[in-house]
Amino acid sequence: MNLSKDLEYRQFCVFGNPIAHSKSPLIHNFTFSSFINEIGFLGLYGRYLLTEAKSLRDAFFELKLFGANVTVPFKEEAYNQSDEIKGIAAEINSVNTLLLEDGCLIGYNTDAEGFYQTILPYGFKTALLIGAGGSAKAIAYILRQKGIEVNILNRSKERLKSFEEAGFICWGTQNFEPKPFDIVINATPAGLKDSTLPLDKDLLSKTFLLSKMAYDLIYGIYTPFLCLAKSVGLDAKDGRDMLIEQAVLAFELFCRYKVNRDLIRKRMKSIY
Ligand SMILES: NC(=O)c1ccc[n+]([C@@H]2O[C@H](COP(=O)([O-])OP(=O)(O)OC[C@H]3O[C@@H](n4cnc5c(N)ncnc54)[C@H](OP(=O)(O)O)[C@@H]3O)[C@@H](O)[C@H]2O)c1
Repeated sequence: MNLSKDLEYRQFCVFGNPIAHSKSPLIHNFTFSSFINEIGFLGLYGRYLLTEAKSLRDAFFELKLFGANVTVPFKEEAYNQSDEIKGIAAEINSVNTLLLEDGCLIGYNTDAEGFYQTILPYGFKTALLIGAGGSAKAIAYILRQKGIEVNILNRSKERLKSFEEAGFICWGTQNFEPKPFDIVINATPAGLKDSTLPLDKDLLSKTFLLSKMAYDLIYGIYTPFLCLAKSVGLDAKDGRDMLIEQAVLAFELFCRYKVNRDLIRKRMKSIY
């Protein structure tokens, strides 16, 4: 890389808690440095451990950031603290990408479209989404927007209420009966730090046997959910592609669409 003294530097980061595990700095720094000629600046991307949700906006401006990503547990707070919300983030009240536009903080959500891009080639028509948290909401809304029938299953009834009110087909663990789905998605942290399944093993096995793909949003480890899917011969996918795809869409925003999406994706996949 040939760095000129006049080169402009722009700072970015990911806010979260915990944040030490985040792969976003690796992915974005590599991609910024490799497209320096196309975008005309060097992006420097760090991680920021945010301890107080309410100081997110202040931290963004104090750090003189051009853009940022936001991860667990601050996506709703990022939505609240944005000056303006664009795209599907307005529907799901969740922002994972912040951009400085004319001095204002603009909130976007690239998780939803990022997930959808990873399943687009399969042409699925029905989905079972296990979990009713922030990621489940993003996925449920984008899948419905794209014409896919979404079924949501959650262990506690409380979180299902807003999905029921929004017209989704909802199931509790007590009344769920296995039936065929094109894709079964684990949108819970079950299996991330323990060896649990997000649903009773017998119910999940029977559902897998009738379905076409198991997709775990968790990435980097082989979860019990994915192991069970493999054991019954089901196509199984972890959350790595979603992680990449949401980063591709965030990078497009960070570089103001100056680099082709396929090139960004190729570059990101080469590093992680
Ligand atoms: N690949 C990616 O790019 C990507 C992006 C975003 C998130 N993720 C992953 O997606 C997962 C969910 O994230 P989130 O932000 O949506 O979480 P969240 O908002 O905290 O929601 C958690 C949901 O999971 C359910 N749940 C928690 N533990 C469970 C268990 N042991 N068994 C069954 N259900 C359980 C909760 O049910 P209750 O209502 O009953 O508590 C709740 O519905 C996380 O593992 C995260 O790492 C990956």
